[in-house]
Amino acid sequence: MSTEGNAAVSGAFTPVIRLADLPPNTKKAVTLGSRCVLVCNQGDRLYAISNVCSHNEKPLERGRMGNGWIACPVHGARFDLATGAAMNLPAKNPIATFEVRTVGEWIEVLV
Ligand code: FES
Repeated sequence: MSTEGNAAVSGAFTPVIRLADLPPNTKKAVTLGSRCVLVCNQGDRLYAISNVCSHNEKPLERGRMGNGWIACPVHGARFDLATGAAMNLPAKNPIATFEVRTVGEWIEVLV
């Protein structure tokens, strides 16, 4: 079984983090193959997004989360956690989002 940070099988759900290790309003970055993915538990809902801001390719993992969004810590662009849409400048382009599910005690992400 894969664990946090391990390479993923492309096109398959991969276990990345134990649910108990991602309490509400926290996030963790994982690497799945060539992708940097940020798994977020915001408002008791799970999301998996690209960990790379579309404005200037900075990591989002230290960004603040709010009601369904995450803010880039560098210039403040916010992204919708569900759709990846850029919500304000300076970002104009969306970030990638990934399917996420729980299976038993594991959070799994599809890349
Ligand atoms: S690098 Fe994210 S808003 Fe500029």
